[in-house]
Amino acid sequence: MQFPSRPTWAEIKLSALKKNLLKLQKIIGPAVKLMFVVKADAYGHGAAAAAGFAERENLAWGFGVSSVEEGLSLRSGAVRSPILVLGSLYPFESFIEAINSGLAVTISSLDAARQAMEASRKLGQKAVCHIKLETGMGRIGARKPAVIKIFSELALGKSAAINGLYTHLSSADTDPEFTAAQLGYFEETIAELAGYGANNIIKHAANSAGLLNYPQSRRDMVRAGLAAYGLMEGFEPVLSWKTRIVFIKTVREGTYISYHKSFRASRPMKIATLPVGYGDGYIRRFSGAQALVGGVKCPIAGDITMDMTMVDVTDARDAAVGSEVTLIGRQGGAEITAAELAVVAGTIPYEVVTLIASRVPRIYV
Ligand SMILES: Cc1ncc(COP(=O)(O)O)c(C=O)c1O
Repeated sequence: MQFPSRPTWAEIKLSALKKNLLKLQKIIGPAVKLMFVVKADAYGHGAAAAAGFAERENLAWGFGVSSVEEGLSLRSGAVRSPILVLGSLYPFESFIEAINSGLAVTISSLDAARQAMEASRKLGQKAVCHIKLETGMGRIGARKPAVIKIFSELALGKSAAINGLYTHLSSADTDPEFTAAQLGYFEETIAELAGYGANNIIKHAANSAGLLNYPQSRRDMVRAGLAAYGLMEGFEPVLSWKTRIVFIKTVREGTYISYHKSFRASRPMKIATLPVGYGDGYIRRFSGAQALVGGVKCPIAGDITMDMTMVDVTDARDAAVGSEVTLIGRQGGAEITAAELAVVAGTIPYEVVTLIASRVPRIYV
């Protein structure tokens, strides 16, 4: 493997991604479609590479992105599978670009439906629409009466194609009662829409936690991100974050390390400096975390700075300039997961991986 000149990189293990997507396929069975969610640059894993690989290996029916830009960037990377823009399209002119590039769009309002129809008529090509039902996420989506109006108007207008109806679960990992209510309202809406002729559309609700915890939520398609990236129990982590020691020193007891004397050596110590900092997404909130050096968990020493981080490597006997350090991933028998780092920072694994900055090269192994 070739190393970048600044030795801080993320390793993306495509075999783990394949394993996770195959596992998801097995769980949902052949009758249910798998949409692989690759928004936010595939949760920091690199959308072009992740989606390209999944398409070549036939691991997903299609891809979910957050914006038209993200969809266009996949199309320009020659991804041909269905792509659904999960966000709300604005400005409305972006419907034109979405149709031109064959991106399916989310419709959450009558206004958006009308814009999609107008763009379709202009281009003589049907916008592929998935109507979004609001069931409790409170983000985008319309309630049942508005969804029925949207459906009827789109169906009557004929210029756009209604391909799907979907909702998003807000608490499938934590709240069975609320999730059941969300799914109940979704089913009610499906039943009522059937009376308007909405039979052959893709109905989808489940994210990773939904599809794992509530089999009934799988419906015609699931939209999985977290499990595919191995950021959940039972799946293999796809991303490892690594760096190398660029400087090392022995310090006396009482020596201060980093800004504002944020760390004081309580004994003679070996302190290593790593070329990674909050400018790479290794945020200051990780200052209480550990890094793996020589298979040993070594505590971060003092505040993380923009481009460098100090680590107490006293217990890692062979630590030297050039030693490989694992920030996320396995080394020897030890492991630091994105979930553990998330706990240290008071956040969620999604945020840990999506924050890894673009200046950190992704290396696909
Ligand atoms: C609309 C939508 N569907 C599906 C997902 C995938 O969720 P998860 O990564 O929890 O599987 C997301 C992610 O946030 C989402 O916003």
